[in-house]
Amino acid sequence: MLEEGTLSMELIDGKEIAEKVLEECRRDIAHLAESGIKPGLAVILVGDNAASRTYVNAKDRKCRELGIHSVKLELDAAVSQEELIATIEECNRDDEIDGILVQMPLPEHIDESKVVEAILPSKDVDGFHPVNVAKMAMEDASGFVPCTPLGCQRLLTESGVEIEGANVVILGRSMIVGKSLALLLMQRAEGANATVTVAHSRTKNLSKITRRADILVAAIGRPRFVKAEDVKDGAVVIDVGINRIDDPEAKRGYRLVGDVDFDAVAPKTKAITPVPGGVGVMTIAMLMANTVKSARLRRAGD
Ligand code: GUN
Repeated sequence: MLEEGTLSMELIDGKEIAEKVLEECRRDIAHLAESGIKPGLAVILVGDNAASRTYVNAKDRKCRELGIHSVKLELDAAVSQEELIATIEECNRDDEIDGILVQMPLPEHIDESKVVEAILPSKDVDGFHPVNVAKMAMEDASGFVPCTPLGCQRLLTESGVEIEGANVVILGRSMIVGKSLALLLMQRAEGANATVTVAHSRTKNLSKITRRADILVAAIGRPRFVKAEDVKDGAVVIDVGINRIDDPEAKRGYRLVGDVDFDAVAPKTKAITPVPGGVGVMTIAMLMANTVKSARLRRAGD
């Protein structure tokens, strides 16, 4: 429970904002259906990582709910890089597939960059292909922006958080989240124009840097890493972490916690995202939005 003096803290409701994004998708899907177009997404899962399987199933379910053609391809953990790339190339050729997503991480023997580069940039709804990364860096809106950064930005804009001119500190430098979000929020565009600092495991005086943040984004994959003393009073905190913590009393034997020590940090903030129910639900919603965008660009000539 939050204590007195915390009443001004806003819980950023990812579910509600994701629902708004999904409603826009439904409207666009209905519009495409008038021209006989049904967006299609292929999701490729390699091996049987439990968390990856959960994410892939959630993506498949959401596609079906919205009326997006969903193809779930499951490959053995021992699949060769060549076979995986051959599967991607089949999806590249299939006109009913607008988006291709290969769930990360991949087994050690597979080179993730080679796999990402095999995806047609025009079907790369994850936004990981070098062509799409370059477009984001060059502020060319015709490419795809990775779903989690896009979701973080939308959470902020929908919550009325001023991003322009804000000191944004991002903890984590992965391509999937940290580095991409930095590129996105420093763009000369609406919902951007931030002053961005990217901190990581080698950063010195980390706490001093995070305490300067008007907007702090935690994306390091370490449970409850961000403590109250790392956060400025009145900051906005976006928690990208989804960490499984063993809990014999929980239904599945584990609980999800973020990269932020929520109970300690929340009372100091102006607004904060919960885990679950924050960034995670937005990531799936933005994937649906990117798939619909691809169908519009590829097949409706929008
Ligand atoms: N693994 C964790 N996040 C993601 C994501 O956004 N896309 C893919 N393909 N794999 C992931």
